Amino acid sequence: MDTHNEVLKLWPELDWIKNEELRSKVTKTWELALERSVLSADDLNIIPFTLLCGPDLKVTFMDHKKAVVHIAYESGLKMNQFFKDELPVDMDVLVSGAILADVGKLLEYELDEKGKAVQGMYGKYLRHPFSGVSLAEECKVPAEVCHIIATHAGEGDMVKRSTEAYVVHHADFMTFLPFKSRLKKANS
Ligand SMILES: [Fe+2]
Repeated sequence: MDTHNEVLKLWPELDWIKNEELRSKVTKTWELALERSVLSADDLNIIPFTLLCGPDLKVTFMDHKKAVVHIAYESGLKMNQFFKDELPVDMDVLVSGAILADVGKLLEYELDEKGKAVQGMYGKYLRHPFSGVSLAEECKVPAEVCHIIATHAGEGDMVKRSTEAYVVHHADFMTFLPFKSRLKKANS
């Protein structure tokens, strides 16, 4: 399967982006990341989404990414339904940012001498919010979407987030922090 079709298979949610030009830029960013990554599309459905919770965690990288995209999407719909023009959420920007938030993680890995994917030097210096923006800008993804990539994680606490960036940030953290706190309890 070529990279384009691999991305379409990984992300049927790309169809939620109504603007064709934006959808194609988001798709291209994922293609570029897969081409440059030591990970394959199949690996993403196998590797755990965080190394913090030990080797037994069954939630994969893609399980977590999809949960974030779906929660962000449903949240955006509800906010538009209840707040209308008081707090408009741009659904195309929201979905694009959610799909791209962790795309830079594909560059954070390198293979160790045993062929296992581990965090590499590049990822230590440039965490995925930075490498993600870099990949997305290469594919001409607009600033309002790059802003979501840049601010979705802890680094974004220093930045005034857009509405869409707040939604993605919280969708990401609400599906990560409970795993982290469960681990803390187990260790205490
Ligand atoms: Fe992230």
